[in-house]
This record gives sequence, structure tokens and C-alpha cells, in this order.
Amino acid sequence: MKIISNPSSNPVAADERNKKVLEPGFGKYYTDNMVIAQWNENTGWADAKLEAYGPLTLDPATMVFHYGQEVFEGMKAYVQPDGGVSLFRPEANAKRFAKSAARIALPEMPVDFFVQTIEALVKADKEWVPKKIGESLYLRPFMIATEVGLGVRPSNHATYVLIATPAAAYFNADKAVTVWISTEYVRAALGGTGEAKCGGNYAASLLAQKQAAKEGCDQVAYIDAVERKWVEEMGGMNLYFIKGSGKDAKIMTPKLTGTLLPGITRDSILTLANDLGFKTEETMISIDDWRDGVKSGEITEIFACGTAAVVSAVGAAKSIHGTWQTGDGKPGPITNQIRAGLLGIQHGSTPDKHGWNKRVI
Ligand code: PLP
Ligand code: COI
Repeated sequence: MKIISNPSSNPVAADERNKKVLEPGFGKYYTDNMVIAQWNENTGWADAKLEAYGPLTLDPATMVFHYGQEVFEGMKAYVQPDGGVSLFRPEANAKRFAKSAARIALPEMPVDFFVQTIEALVKADKEWVPKKIGESLYLRPFMIATEVGLGVRPSNHATYVLIATPAAAYFNADKAVTVWISTEYVRAALGGTGEAKCGGNYAASLLAQKQAAKEGCDQVAYIDAVERKWVEEMGGMNLYFIKGSGKDAKIMTPKLTGTLLPGITRDSILTLANDLGFKTEETMISIDDWRDGVKSGEITEIFACGTAAVVSAVGAAKSIHGTWQTGDGKPGPITNQIRAGLLGIQHGSTPDKHGWNKRVI
């Protein structure tokens, strides 16, 4: 498959773009171009087009509006010390995108084609990549069901779109996020779509997120749907719990039971933490373990991780069972070390031992 390039003839003026890139926020501004590709059951994927960023015009009876058949990914392009740009593990996002699509009966996009579209957009919109460490160009590929009709069945037409937005950290790195542990709403059950990055999972999480905000919390942590006690993940991030301190610390994360999104940051941190000399464990962690662990001091730090969030300390946790705090409520030393280690690899200032970076420019 090829990418037919017809970039915007009216890009944002350089001084205006530079202002936006200096204070990017998250999802506030979009780059000059996007990539779009069509699939149908008979012909498969057609060549992709790189063209000016702009609205999509869709028939009101387009299936995605009615039955929510949509998947997406989130990945970042990072400036390198020599001014070049690298992607972080793009093939991992490509594979997860295909897996998510398959789960909701959308077509799988070949890994190479997916990565090719990402590279093409980063090259076309390279001036939009922020230069500060911890900032990046966030890429948002997504796929929607675009057959027109109201019958409830898999769409035989799909549209892939890739957009990009300059991004600062999702959370302030100096501050710990507070979480609401939802005992009322669950995010996913076994056999459902928890492992897939589909829009429906996020729609289902918004009411709990609203409740969290009402409780004065930044994010929601979900527990399992059956026993209602095992900590799973947050609405858009995986979780890590640290026991002990210094070189004897053990870094633990909830096991992938089939209901959690297998985060690429989560996976990278398992390797990175080992490289830094820490013990790691994928295990089951209950709300009682969380509460008792932070109260006794056995759990010294907790952090959330994800592409958008990078690594963000988790301070207070609140639920109907009470409120408890991790350590002194501030980001701890191991959380900071892991955050710096990951950003160092992503921005090319520490050796990339595992071949995670893919140089684009
Ligand atoms: N869990 C959920 C529900 C997410 O939306 C995300 C974000 O993509 C993650 C975890 C972290 O995944 P990753 O590290 O691949 O960004
Ligand atoms: C990401 O980290 O890429 C996500 O999709 C999570 C979302 C909260 C922005």
C-alpha cells in the first residue's frame, strides 16, 4: 500500500505554530495534515492519503454513530538530542491496534502499513514536534465503521484516520494524582472488551470519572467485575505499586487477566525496572492490599503509567471505604527514577538497549 501525499496548501503560519508548540497542552491544537485510508470487504485496504487536516463528512446513518464500532491508539514522537525525531515502539501500537480491531469485528490493518502512515504524518508535520523533554507529538490513529445502515452487524466499510497534536505532560510531574476507587461501576469483565482500545470502554468510564471529580479526585481506579476487590487499572493508565525502598524495592503491577489494557508503557517499565536493578512482579493486588500496604508503610510509592500520562505518582486514594494516602503524598524517588529512565530512552539521552526507538527523521 502506498501513501498518496497531498499536504495542506494552507499550513498554520510559523509564528502561530511555534506559539502553540511552546504551550501545547493536551489535544488543544492539531497539526496541518492527517492521513486517511479506506477499507472495504471486497477490496481490502486502499492506498492512504496524506492531506490537509479537516472535518469528515459522514452520512447520519453511518454505523459508528449508532453502534460505536471504533478503535484507537495513542503514541508519541519524541525530539532527539540532534534535533531528529523518534517514535517509541510503534510496532507494539500497530499490533495492539490490529488486535483491538479484530475484537470488535473491524478489519486488521497490516503492521507495516500502520507504521508507514505514522512516519508519513510525523515527517510532514515535523515542525509541530515540541522540543522540550517530556513533551512530544501525540499521534492518534483511529478506525471507525463507515458502512451506512442501521442493521446491527459488522460494518463492511471502515475508515482509518490519523491525526496529531503537540502534547505536554497529561499531568503535572511534580504533583501526585488522586484517585477514586470505583466500587459501583466496573470498566470491564472477562469476555468483554477490556483488553481492546475501543471507544466504548472510555464511554463506559465517563460516569465514574464524573463521580471521581465530584469526590475531588483526578482519576478513577477500577476493580474487577467478579469479586469486586482486585485492582485493575485506571481509565487511561496502568498502575504500579512499589514495596520497600532503595535497591531492595519490589515493583509490582496488576497481572493482565484479560480485562486490562496491555499498556506498552507498563510493559516497557517491567523491563526498565529490571535494568535498573529492581525486582518486578505481575500479580493480583486487592483494595485491602492497597489500603493496608500504604497504612503500614509497606507500599512506599504508587504510580500510574501510559503514553499520555508517562509516569505519574498516585497520592491519595478515596473510595466508599475511606481515604488513604501513599507515603507523604508526593512523587517518590523510584517513581521519579523510572519516569526519568523512560523519558531518557524516549528522548535518546540514555542508551536504547532494547531497540525501542524508531528513528523517523
Ligand atoms: N489503560 C488504558 C485503559 C489506557 O487507555 C491506556 C492508554 O493508552 C493505558 C492503560 C496505557 O497504555 P499505553 O502505555 O500503551 O499507552
Ligand atoms: C494514551 O495514553 O494514549 C491514551 O489513550 C489515554 C488517554 C487518557 C489519553
